[in-house]
Amino acid sequence: MESFTLRFELDFAALAAYYLLESPTAGIGGRALSDIPAFPLADRVPVISADAIARGVRAAASQLVDQLTQWGFIAIEMPGIGQATIDVTTHFAAACQSMAPSLSDFIYTQVPQRSIGGNHGFFPMFSEVPRLAKGVADPKEFLHISGAIIDDVPSGSRAVLETFNDLGRLAADLFARGFELASAVGGLICSLISDNPSLDLGLSWQSSILRLVHYVVEDHREVLAYEHSGIQMLGVQYPPSDRGLQYVLNDGQWVEPQIAGTNVVLCNVGRMLTSASGGRFRPSTHRVHRASPLDQYERWSNVLFCHPDHRANQWVIRENSRDVVPLAATWGEFVSDMVRGLGIATAAGE
Ligand SMILES: [Fe+2]
Repeated sequence: MESFTLRFELDFAALAAYYLLESPTAGIGGRALSDIPAFPLADRVPVISADAIARGVRAAASQLVDQLTQWGFIAIEMPGIGQATIDVTTHFAAACQSMAPSLSDFIYTQVPQRSIGGNHGFFPMFSEVPRLAKGVADPKEFLHISGAIIDDVPSGSRAVLETFNDLGRLAADLFARGFELASAVGGLICSLISDNPSLDLGLSWQSSILRLVHYVVEDHREVLAYEHSGIQMLGVQYPPSDRGLQYVLNDGQWVEPQIAGTNVVLCNVGRMLTSASGGRFRPSTHRVHRASPLDQYERWSNVLFCHPDHRANQWVIRENSRDVVPLAATWGEFVSDMVRGLGIATAAGE
């Protein structure tokens, strides 16, 4: 990974204070979810070409650091990514409709999250019960495509991608672009928190997961996903099919980034990075609300969760230090601890 020679000053004390916002009731402030201000991003954020991602991140470094400091997430415009995302969604939608073959042939009801490759396969409607949902499952089905199954590790795991061949090819391409972006952003972040030139986030292609999500809402719920943050080091949110995705900024204000129908992708901080950075970066808390009053509402969203190798040891750069301290526990153990709260079974022995 290329290292960054620029140095930036971050207001870590302020960021640590904002971290306290991560609580079940933070940020709503009595405001209706549908009344959250729009947050336009197209034409306001750096444009980075998909064929020169590392160079683009380096050139835009100071703007990206400003975003991280002020907003708590990164936004960039990548020409072509909107259409690439639509193409994946179109094929995923066809796969969801298909009876033979069926995505149900690739159902995972248990999540071997700690194994190499993370979790992968199809999760049917109501598989996931988030912490804040009071036992109510999210109205969504999703497909997990890890880098490992793109590589056919373990052998045979690629079957779902071979069965839905065009989807597999397009999704692998979308995965690759997001992974390259996260790796470049990871290099920038390492240069902020340590002087150790060999530090990188250790993002692992095989442990990272592209999640294709399909919400199907047939009741009148307003919240499709309660506020939450991801487990990952860095996440890449591609433009979804509709508005409704909301983020809390570092100043506590909720906003609705305008990314649907654009080429803007968001790069999120996950809990792994919060941990490794000694709390310097708070997790990018977000939620999804219903953007339409229609009785039957559908929404499509794609996100890449970038993880380090789950067999690697965790590390931390403690407060008031720039030294990397290795920890005894692995990142796989970190994932297990987090998944336990999600209402998804974890495979025994994983
Ligand atoms: Fe999320």
